[in-house]
Amino acid sequence: CGIVGYVGDSKSVEVLMGGLRRLEYRGYDSAGIAVIDDSGHLNTAKRAGKLAMLTAELEAHPISNGRTGIGHTRWATHGGPTDQNAHPHLGDNGRLALIHNGIIENFGPLRDELLAEGFSFTSETDSEVAALLLGREYQRVGDLSEAFRTVVARLDGAFTLLAVHQDQPGVVVGARRNSPLVIGLGDGENFLGSDVAAFVEYTHRALAIGQDQIVTITPDLVTITDFDGNAVECEEFEVAWDASASDKGGWSSFMAKEVSEQPDAVANTLRGRITDGHVVVPELTEFGDDVLAGLRRIVIIACGTAAYAGQTAKYAIEKWAGVPVDVELSHEFRYRDPVLGEDTLVVSISQSGETMDTLMAVKYAREAGAKTISICNTQGATIPRESDAVIYTHAGPEVAVASTKAFVAQITALYLFALHLARVRSSLSEAELAVQTAELQAVPAKIATTLLEADSIRQLAKWMSDTRAVLFLGRHVGFPIAMEGALKLKELAYIHAEGFAAGELKHGPIALIEPGQPVFVIVPSPRGSAHLHPKVVSNIQEIRARGARIIAIAEIGDAAVLPFADTVIHIPLAAPLFEPFLAVVPLQIFAMELSIAKGLDVDQPRNLAKSVTVE
Ligand code: G6P
Repeated sequence: CGIVGYVGDSKSVEVLMGGLRRLEYRGYDSAGIAVIDDSGHLNTAKRAGKLAMLTAELEAHPISNGRTGIGHTRWATHGGPTDQNAHPHLGDNGRLALIHNGIIENFGPLRDELLAEGFSFTSETDSEVAALLLGREYQRVGDLSEAFRTVVARLDGAFTLLAVHQDQPGVVVGARRNSPLVIGLGDGENFLGSDVAAFVEYTHRALAIGQDQIVTITPDLVTITDFDGNAVECEEFEVAWDASASDKGGWSSFMAKEVSEQPDAVANTLRGRITDGHVVVPELTEFGDDVLAGLRRIVIIACGTAAYAGQTAKYAIEKWAGVPVDVELSHEFRYRDPVLGEDTLVVSISQSGETMDTLMAVKYAREAGAKTISICNTQGATIPRESDAVIYTHAGPEVAVASTKAFVAQITALYLFALHLARVRSSLSEAELAVQTAELQAVPAKIATTLLEADSIRQLAKWMSDTRAVLFLGRHVGFPIAMEGALKLKELAYIHAEGFAAGELKHGPIALIEPGQPVFVIVPSPRGSAHLHPKVVSNIQEIRARGARIIAIAEIGDAAVLPFADTVIHIPLAAPLFEPFLAVVPLQIFAMELSIAKGLDVDQPRNLAKSVTVE
């Protein structure tokens, strides 16, 4: 869910709605706001459906504006996406409004307690329990911050809570445990948000608040305490994103814009980390070369697209730095008693830096004694702050729910990490390091060339718009890219899609091939992967013989594949480990164009949220 809070002058509705617009990628099945107007009344508006529904509601029935307010855009957990279940929820007989992100795990007994006391509920959410508890406590103590301290002590689970009370205009109070919350510092106004996108239009000064803390904002003051009421200090940081970076900027969708920004995403991630042809990642110097040289094992943890970035980079890290790498889905990692030690480095990858599954896995790894690095795209996010070091990807804000530019930026950061490690461990010669570094620097221009294929891929997607299932095959680094291509198609076009290792085909998946079945094949370079190329071409022949329709993604000049492919999408020449940067681009465009051809919302696919802050 996305959360925004505001205190300042009399324009709360505009600030809240603007913040929600920028946070909508965090959830979009309902939205709502609560504002204390200038005569001290609490007004709320909430609607099921996308933010546009709330906008229409506010146009039809405007609420009186004020200086204090909170807003919420929801990704449903407890209770379906209805008007009633939309936030804010009310307490203290309608004088208090509360919004919530996360899950209150003990909401059952708390609900029973409130019901026994005669409270009644208007929604099926766990969040309303917090609103009623807070209202009850407010009646006792008459102060929102103090009431919060008592209530958070009774909640289990993960939450960010924001509340306002009409008897305390000019005050918004928030609390967090394992869910995101950042503060925006303005001039005579202050903000709260799930991430900096909520307020970047108004201020670039931000504070990242820690776990288990309560923040109270007024137009001129920000007070942060722990759950016991002890004052705590927070570090201020400057938000590097500018507001226009999270606008569509003339593109038809955020997805189209972000796909096109991939050369910059890679180039910006490289910036400042290559000096005179040498990779030196300043963020890694925190560890000391001896720690990096002594590593015995690396475990990469991530979810979704980020996990495929990890699987792709495994090949480079092992080849260049000679350290064994395991890649695990965060939610599987934590619950199987993994063996970790001081010579294990756990690398988490998360665009948002807030994915709860990954956050919990990082915490687990630290407690087990492992060192942790996070690869993250969002300043002030929780996962980097819970890690020993962070390598930021500088892809800029990624708004479309399905990840594209963050993916190539993640692989870039991981390759920088691998080359830094290889230098420290002397596992590559100076000459080899220089060759790989130059290859990495050449990636942005090659992605730009690959993007020129967009028109022909659009045609292909149009022809295939009634396709019901698509298979993707790849080998070596092409394997995780095949899985990422399938994921993109599932996410964006709701088409059943599977990615397979090409060599595995004959062990089962080949049974799926029937006449007309479309299969994308990522073909390794005939020069760089001379040993693998003929094997993949043989795989193509095997499935073609059974009627498959082949769409090959192949290096420019690869003549061997031409006779067997129905369609060939060309990518520029690159060393084998660098092909993923290029091969993924046509797959992203294909999924995007097929989604558009089917008339779907390419930026906000059904049932998904960009940042999943529940386990
Ligand atoms: C969600 C998104 C995916 C994303 C995954 C990991 O499931 O829908 O697109 O890949 O989370 O997100 P992260 O922010 O941790 O990279």
